[in-house]
Parts: sequence; structure tokens; C-alpha cells
Amino acid sequence: MENLLSVPIKNDIYYIGTNDRQTPLFEGMWPLPNGVAYNSYLIKGKKNIIVDLVRVNTSSVYLNKVQELLDGEDLDYIIINHMEPDHTSSIKAVLDVYPKAKLITNKRAVDMLNAYYEIEDNIIVVGEGETLELGDREFTFYTTPMVHWPESMVTYEAKTKTLFSQDIFGGFGTLDGAVFDDQVEFTKHYLEEITRYYINIVGKYSQQALRALKKLEGLDIELICPVHGPIWRENPQKIIDLYTSLAKQETIDGCVVIYGSMYGNTEQMAEAVAKGLAIGGIKDIKIRDITKTPNSYLLSDIWRYKGVILGSCSYDNSLFPPMNYLLTEISHQRMKNNYWGIFGSYSWSGGALKTLKKYMEDGKYDVLDTQLEIKGAANDEEIEALINFGKEMAAKILDK
Ligand code: FEO
Repeated sequence: MENLLSVPIKNDIYYIGTNDRQTPLFEGMWPLPNGVAYNSYLIKGKKNIIVDLVRVNTSSVYLNKVQELLDGEDLDYIIINHMEPDHTSSIKAVLDVYPKAKLITNKRAVDMLNAYYEIEDNIIVVGEGETLELGDREFTFYTTPMVHWPESMVTYEAKTKTLFSQDIFGGFGTLDGAVFDDQVEFTKHYLEEITRYYINIVGKYSQQALRALKKLEGLDIELICPVHGPIWRENPQKIIDLYTSLAKQETIDGCVVIYGSMYGNTEQMAEAVAKGLAIGGIKDIKIRDITKTPNSYLLSDIWRYKGVILGSCSYDNSLFPPMNYLLTEISHQRMKNNYWGIFGSYSWSGGALKTLKKYMEDGKYDVLDTQLEIKGAANDEEIEALINFGKEMAAKILDK
């Protein structure tokens, strides 16, 4: 049968992943305007082996690909690098068709297989650094705990020097026709989506990510097959470098001003602060309305910009609720390489600045001492103070 649905990669390794353009939010909370791909790989040979599966909502498309490629042969093994359901929830559908397939994973995934899918049998457990010969190929497994879950591991196939890296090196965005790094306009289509994925999904585990990247340094890698985003065959070092930079939270000399405003007065304060930033020499400035920008994007901005200014109106004697939610998310991400600035507005008894101030103190953030609190709309004197506040932040960012 002609192979129409899968994509040959190298030496009988095939891409059999699926695209999801229906799910609006990844993990129920991160927007997917460009969808997401669930990458899966089938290695044909003396033994037929799948590496990582897809989400159940795409399983009928997926099974067509598997069945076309196997063309009546058995599936012998399924390597499960990561248990999150975007890569495993099709498992029952696959095992219904290929009940003899053995699952290969590590001990931390065994409980999860039972908890999610009531699967207890036909499991081969592998340990850190263990090598298995399957057919005419050799696979070595390396655990990468908390990148992204505790059971996460990667698989290295020696013959083709391929790293099946699960979530590591992945990103949002479907694979639209092309699947390889050298077939796509990376900067236009994937840079932002891979960056946002890293920050939203892996960012909080950056120390563990750096440990995982260190562990992989010793491998001779010619091909990287992640579970999301493009396959890296031309320049795997490019994605390794990008991930390393993200894991280190390397910031750029810019500033994001995030404001919460009910009637536009706090927005005008943000405009004045941004004017001060520009006068102070900052060229990369973003003003973000917290009510219109999902946290997914705000967190990405915060991760990358050296300067972050949060300005909020007060609401019921406390912080504007969307700003409160953002603070919760910032705590999860454990960002450490920013300079922070805060200001607040109020109508009668305040609340916003007090809450922001306490948050900064509790989290030991590097925050500017100037912390303006303005009643109602800013007058000329206050506008000037806000501009000076922006200039002060610019000097801090540019180390003047
Ligand atoms: Fe793509 Fe952590 O799952």
C-alpha cells in the first residue's frame, strides 16, 4: 500500500503525529490560536515501535496513519516518554487494534498508566541510562524529572542518532504541511509559539530543564523528534540554544507595562510611564491591558523583558482581580531576572498599591523604591512623576 499519510524521516522512522485545531486552550488554560501538534513516531523494522502517542480527540486520524504504515503487521512496542494525556490518551484506542503491543516506560509512569487508563500489564520498566535492544535497534532512556512531569524521560536511538525528546524542545502551533525545521519559516511561524510554550508549560521547572539539557550534552544528536512543534534535522543546535536561553531566563533590554484599568485613568498612567521609558532610551516597550491579554502572553513578556511595570486600579479595597490572578501565575513561574516597578490608583481608600507592595516584598522581587499611588485621574504633577518613574526604570534596565 502506498504510504500517503505519514512522513518518512530517516532509516524507517516515520512521523505519524496529528494536528489539533479544535481545542481552544492547552491544559484548559493556555490559548491555542495556532493550534497544536501531537507528534508521534513509528519506527519500522524487525520490531515495529511507536514512540509517544497523541491526544484521544485525534485518535481516528492517528489510527489511519498507524494502520496504513504497518499495513497488516503487528505493533510490537510503544515507548511512553511522558504520561500527560496529550501524548497518551489515545492508548486504549491503539491497544484495541494492537493488543499485543508492549509498553516501555519508567517506574514513575507505571502508577499513572493505572490511574489514567487502568493499564497494569504488558509493561517493560526501564531505568535511568538503561539500553534496550529492540529488533535491530538500540534505545537508551534518560529520565528528565519535572520536564515536564515527574515521570518524563527521553529516548535516544543510536543508529540514527535521534533524540525523542518528548515535551523538551516542543512548542505550540500545528505542523501545516511541513514537519521539519528546514521546511518552515521558523521565526515567523514557530519562534513565538515555542517561546510561549516553554514559558507557560516548562518555565517553572527551569532548573530541572537546565539539568536535563546538561544531561543531554554528552549525546551525539543529529535529529531531535519532540512531541510538539517541528522536527529538528538541519540544525538541532538551534533549538537546544533557544531552550537553554529560555531556561536561563535570559532577558532583553525592554520593558512591559501591564495595567488594569476600569475607566481609562490607570491606562493613562501607564502611557505616561511608557513615555518615560522611551525618553530614558528603551526602544522595546509594550503596554498591555490585563483584561484583554491572556496571562499566557503576559507571562511570556515578563519572562523575556528585563523591566516589568505593574499598574493597577483598586477594587473593593484591594487589587483589581485580573491583576491578582496574574500575580498568582507569576509566583508559579518563579521568575528571578527582572526589575519590577509598581504603581496604583484608587478612588477612596486605596488597596491596589498596598497589595502589590506586599507581593513584591514577600517574593523578594527587585522592585524600584518609587511606588506611586494616585487618586482618581492623574493631574499634571502626577503625570510628570509617572514619566520620571519610567525614566528611572529605563536607567535601571540600561544600567546607567
Ligand atoms: Fe505535551 Fe507535558 O505534555
